[in-house]
Amino acid sequence: MELEHADPVRAGRRRRVLITGAGGQLGHALLQAFAADDVLALTHADWDVAQPPSTALSQGDFDLVLHTAAWTDVDLAEADPQSAAAVNVAGTAHAASLRTPLVTYSTDYVFDGRKRSPYVESDGPNPTSAYGRTKLHGEATAGQQAWVIRTSWLFGSTGHNFLRTMLRLGAERDEVAVVDDQRGSPTFVGHLAEATRQLVDAGLPKGLWHVAADGDCTWADFAEAIFEEAGFDTRVRRITTAELERPAPRPAYSVLRSERAGAPRLPHWREGLRACLAEMDG
Ligand SMILES: NC(=O)c1ccc[n+]([C@@H]2O[C@H](COP(=O)([O-])OP(=O)(O)OC[C@H]3O[C@@H](n4cnc5c(N)ncnc54)[C@H](OP(=O)(O)O)[C@@H]3O)[C@@H](O)[C@H]2O)c1
Repeated sequence: MELEHADPVRAGRRRRVLITGAGGQLGHALLQAFAADDVLALTHADWDVAQPPSTALSQGDFDLVLHTAAWTDVDLAEADPQSAAAVNVAGTAHAASLRTPLVTYSTDYVFDGRKRSPYVESDGPNPTSAYGRTKLHGEATAGQQAWVIRTSWLFGSTGHNFLRTMLRLGAERDEVAVVDDQRGSPTFVGHLAEATRQLVDAGLPKGLWHVAADGDCTWADFAEAIFEEAGFDTRVRRITTAELERPAPRPAYSVLRSERAGAPRLPHWREGLRACLAEMDG
């Protein structure tokens, strides 16, 4: 019998999991959610996914690859789409080349944001930014072996994210200007990591899955909730996307929901916010 991708539990050993981009905020959360497994966590310094995997990695005999490594600087991708594609398209192809069941992550930015009801898996993508285009191409390179999880507005206790920026600004200023004409679902990476484990453990079919927090809000609503939960008096001045003059266009509406049977349901974004702040306090 070929043991390579046999059920590790039946083979009498722990599941071997490879995490790419392990220094990022989602990678960090996945390390916790998959702590019962035999995990190899590779940071950017360990494996630049724009390069093919080493022979040692290719022979690594993994049961599961959790591919979080990505070019996530949406504005910089407009100026340098080729470098973004080297990570988000070629990098995903390199992860898929390990020929192991793969989870890869994509984004609400594959949609143009013209809808005013939640985007489901059968909705046609139409990215308006270079980042969104590279992620959509990345989805296609992931292949039949992959669960492709589209998610949105990630935040966690580590790394660069909106929550951590607001906590810093809230501590420094009386007022912060925040965009109020983009609506989405801020998703706690801890909840997404747990949902990833459930999806894999339940043996749900491969393919596209929308997984984002319940509820929706604008960035300004989210900022107000952050200040409220953190006990800051900071005011939020509501501004438009146009006023911010960022290089990359963002979808005005990008709430994601799943239409697929058995899809994991995440807690409301406000619960995610509280869970993340509690993790930061702990
Ligand atoms: N952040 C969001 O709001 C959001 C929303 C929807 C979907 N997603 C998707 O969710 C996934 C995880 O995102 P995240 O928020 O955890 O991003 P993140 O915190 O920026 O983490 C991404 C990680 O990938 C690493 N990386 C960048 N280029 C790499 C390369 N060439 N080779 C190997 N590693 C590389 C980064 O390392 P360095 O920092 O050292 O470069 C970083 O540690 C990504 O696929 C992203 O597109 C994110």
